[in-house]
Amino acid sequence: MMVGFGCPVILWLALAAVQGSVLGLGEDMDRPLIGPLGSPVRLHESDAGLKKALQFAEERYNQGSNAMHLRKVSRLLSATKQLVKGIRYSITVELSNTQCKKSTMLRTCDFYPEIQKLKTEVCLFEVWDIPWQGTSTLLKQKCQPKVEVQQEETNNIVDASTSQPLEDSVELLGQFKEFMVKHNKDYSSQEEADYRLFVFHENLKTAEKLQTLDQGSAEYGVTKFSDLTEEEFRSAYLNPLLSQWNLHRLMKPAPPARGPAPASWDWRDHGAVSSIKNQGTCGSCWAFSVTGNIEGQWFLKNGTLLSLSEQELVDCDGLDQACKGGLPSNAYEAIEKLGGLETETDYSYTGMKQSCDFTSVKVAAYINSSVELSKDEKDIAAWLAENGPVSVALNAFAMQFYRKGVSHPMKIFCNSWMIDHAVLMVGYGERKNIPFWAIKNSWGEDYGEQGYYYLYRGSNACGINQMCSSAVVN
Ligand SMILES: *[C@@H]1O[C@H](CO)[C@@H](O)[C@H](O)[C@H]1NC(C)=O
Ligand SMILES: *[C@@H]1O[C@H](CO)[C@@H](O)[C@H](O)[C@H]1NC(C)=O
Repeated sequence: MMVGFGCPVILWLALAAVQGSVLGLGEDMDRPLIGPLGSPVRLHESDAGLKKALQFAEERYNQGSNAMHLRKVSRLLSATKQLVKGIRYSITVELSNTQCKKSTMLRTCDFYPEIQKLKTEVCLFEVWDIPWQGTSTLLKQKCQPKVEVQQEETNNIVDASTSQPLEDSVELLGQFKEFMVKHNKDYSSQEEADYRLFVFHENLKTAEKLQTLDQGSAEYGVTKFSDLTEEEFRSAYLNPLLSQWNLHRLMKPAPPARGPAPASWDWRDHGAVSSIKNQGTCGSCWAFSVTGNIEGQWFLKNGTLLSLSEQELVDCDGLDQACKGGLPSNAYEAIEKLGGLETETDYSYTGMKQSCDFTSVKVAAYINSSVELSKDEKDIAAWLAENGPVSVALNAFAMQFYRKGVSHPMKIFCNSWMIDHAVLMVGYGERKNIPFWAIKNSWGEDYGEQGYYYLYRGSNACGINQMCSSAVVN
């Protein structure tokens, strides 16, 4: 059969209809259409009860699957019914990927036109319908990937009980191997590798959930953090001190912006943002957030863009806790007391707390005070456009598996009191009508979009409006 790339499934179904559609499988082929009471009876696809049972099986299948897309029946291979305390349907079908993500209505979904995206499986369903009770039960669901050659002649569907995990594991192993190569992962033992594969798999499921529930345009999936448990990720990269509001030093409120916010603004286009840095496995995001802000303030005051030292803060800021976390409000005060910041070159980053090696002769930039911004996103935008990049903090729940696009997690997953990561807000705008904040992160250039994270703007997403501050250089 000629199956082009344009419309393989539609063609398939059309042919099936012409052939009368009920292609028997093995012994089902020889069964009479009408048999004695209690024995299985072959069904035509127009059978109303079969249609209902199939729809039920399809729904259950999609509810129980972790796949990102809704899948629906692309072909009916065989169907029988048997009268046993109700009607027991035994249905063999092919299921393929539709283009719809999980939240949409299945009936309105089209299949992928590309055959390789269909990921067709052959499934055996047994649905037990008890019409007088109004109940349907899925007694059995066994699926295996469709073997492209002559599926009709094989009869191994029934003993396919292990095939669902097998298909998963082949695809999973491929993804894991790719991940290991891409990120130079090398595990110390087979046990460690097995454990990391397990974590990787769990993380893929989490990323799929994030993907299904995202309200923006973000893509989530494999990232360089995909072999870390949530706890490992949290302790290595996040900052628990940020949610301890009682530790925050009060700052004076920032004077409001003089004018309204322009429609969009990006300080990267104005030379106020240094290149992406990498905090390593040290919870020093607060230091990167603050140096990024001061780099911008110094640029706007002095005209030169410097790259300033985070290590100075990790080593010498006694108000904060180095790799165990810190608060921007404390860091400003520490910098004022120290007399300023050295450059990245003079006091380079090691990602570990060491003894303080600061000398005031090497101070490259100073600050005079610090201010706290309004919690209204419109005010924040106006202030940013007038005054420079802003130190912000947020709930980083959606960030571990973020790849690109505008991230807009549901509120219940990204509440505004679990603030655990400090970053630098450098701009804002809209992408395809989705308003965003452009956020400079400190997890290397290979994170997100060239080191940046884009978060939905306008709903205080992930508490982004909660902790906006800036140094002041007079
Ligand atoms: C900028 O800073 C440099 C070094 O601290 C200094 O020599 C220069 O005068 C400053 N320029 C302005 C315009 O403030
Ligand atoms: C700002 O701080 C610097 C360095 O501590 C200091 O030399 C300068 O006089 C201060 N400026 C003002 C206006 O207080």
